[in-house]
Amino acid sequence: MAAPISTRETAEVPWGNTVLVEFDEGIAWVTLNRPDKRNAMNPTLNDEMVATLDALEADPRCRALVLTGAGDAFSAGMDLKEYFREVDESGDPALQSRVRRASAEWQWKRLANWSKPTVAMVNGWCFGGAFTPLVACDLAISDEAAQYGLSEINWGIPPGGVVSRALAATVSQRDALYFIMTGEPFDGRRAAEMRLVNEAVPAERLRERTRELALKLASMNPVVMRAAKVGYKLAQEMPWEQAEDYLYAKLEQSQFLDAERGRQKGMTQFLDDKTYRPGLSAYSDE
Ligand code: COA
Repeated sequence: MAAPISTRETAEVPWGNTVLVEFDEGIAWVTLNRPDKRNAMNPTLNDEMVATLDALEADPRCRALVLTGAGDAFSAGMDLKEYFREVDESGDPALQSRVRRASAEWQWKRLANWSKPTVAMVNGWCFGGAFTPLVACDLAISDEAAQYGLSEINWGIPPGGVVSRALAATVSQRDALYFIMTGEPFDGRRAAEMRLVNEAVPAERLRERTRELALKLASMNPVVMRAAKVGYKLAQEMPWEQAEDYLYAKLEQSQFLDAERGRQKGMTQFLDDKTYRPGLSAYSDE
């Protein structure tokens, strides 16, 4: 595998301060940064996240992305004041389209099929619209005590955007409808039980466990990683015949694009050199 990039530095973020980026051995820690508003996603933050994802996609210091929140929240969802009330009151349909587009653009369109692996680290409150980027991230690790909720019904709207669609892709209908229809909060342990997140760990282990996972993802062959994750996500929507053809095309595309020649190395090291077992670990990029 390619060596992880050894840097620990804070990125210069030219576009504002609602998003923070820190690089750490190939991981870009991306922090939603409105802690006084529980990281509610307002139009400014949405614009800055679009710019952040674009910048990190091209940045070799980022081989895996962790999305988290500042303070005691992952995100309290869409900003009820700036995203809903102020836009409603503007009476400007063009403004409404623009803010909805930026929100969708990072929260699922860019993030779900992003070219690098992504992990959501849920460190606290996670409500409503925050379920969209949570589900769009490839994997998720939660604080056991983090509080989640599909609270929309509690303040008078059905879940909007693609929140319900994202739930349907992740958890069972019984769990999704229970929480959509009651608006009751639930904790990180319950989120792990219903497979909304991969794991829930005590708060003191959250960063360490997330870092361990992100370092592993950052160490893998990036071309094959992209083909594997995007292939899985897009094939879900396809008929089987198309999925088979598409996934073979992905396999061939990754061989063509892979400068590291992972497939050849993996086969040689297993079949000829007998230096490793692919069932147990990754090949060596030496
Ligand atoms: N939109 C706008 N502002 C929000 C917000 C949101 N989604 N969530 C929190 N805030 C703001 C509060 O208005 C408050 O602002 P103020 O200091 O100017 O009064 C600040 O963040 C702190 O919120 P507060 O409720 O005092 O914090 P708390 O720690 O006691 O409770 C929550 C945290 C997340 C339980 C609570 O803020 C909440 O229920 N938020 C709404 C969650 C929601 O329904 N989201 C769905 C949106 S789709």
